[in-house]
Amino acid sequence: MISAALTRIAILAALDQGARVIVCDMDPGHMQVLLSKTTGNLPGRVAGIVAEMPQIAFEPNSFSAILCSRALHFLNWEDVTKAVKSMADWLAPGGKLFLITDTLYTGFWARGVVAYEERKAAGELWPGFIPDVTMFLPEQARTKAQQRHLNPMDPDILSRVCRDSGLVVEHASFSGRSDQPDAKTHAGVIAAKIS
Ligand SMILES: C[S@@+](CC[C@H](N)C(=O)[O-])C[C@H]1O[C@@H](n2cnc3c(N)ncnc32)[C@H](O)[C@@H]1O
Repeated sequence: MISAALTRIAILAALDQGARVIVCDMDPGHMQVLLSKTTGNLPGRVAGIVAEMPQIAFEPNSFSAILCSRALHFLNWEDVTKAVKSMADWLAPGGKLFLITDTLYTGFWARGVVAYEERKAAGELWPGFIPDVTMFLPEQARTKAQQRHLNPMDPDILSRVCRDSGLVVEHASFSGRSDQPDAKTHAGVIAAKIS
């Protein structure tokens, strides 16, 4: 699992159901915040691992559910493909994968929506990929950009990557924040490992 707000809600729900949870993030600080808000009275039920996708290794068939929330879009398409293949491998048969990413319909990236929709209509596989985010950022934010590329996705891309990893897609959609449920700020997919 990858950390913070959405993830915290999911972890607390999973813990309520008796699950044991492994939290994983490349940033030790982010992971620590999440751990401090979820472990509470449950020592031994939540563990944290600092690691960076796609260089993360877990045992095959070892998870009943995996949530990766708002982190995959930081990876280029080769690494997204590798990371989702690994997640499919880590799931036990019958297990489910829950992926959420940011889309182009949010923040500064919305300036690229017209070009994204044209590339998508032309059949490009990764139409939302931004090779250099500074082209969309205001002057004062450019030097603060932590990495150059960003890979906003959509439900079709997430579904394709899951199917290519041998998973069966159960649901895929755009979603918005609770105050704007019709906005397309996030893309999500739920996919199952049948065998
Ligand atoms: C936008 S926050 C998402 C927070 C949270 N998951 C949520 O849904 O609210 C992105 C998180 O992904 C982590 N992250 C980004 N790239 C990553 C990678 N390649 N491997 C592991 N974690 C990564 C960041 O450190 C950060 O904590």
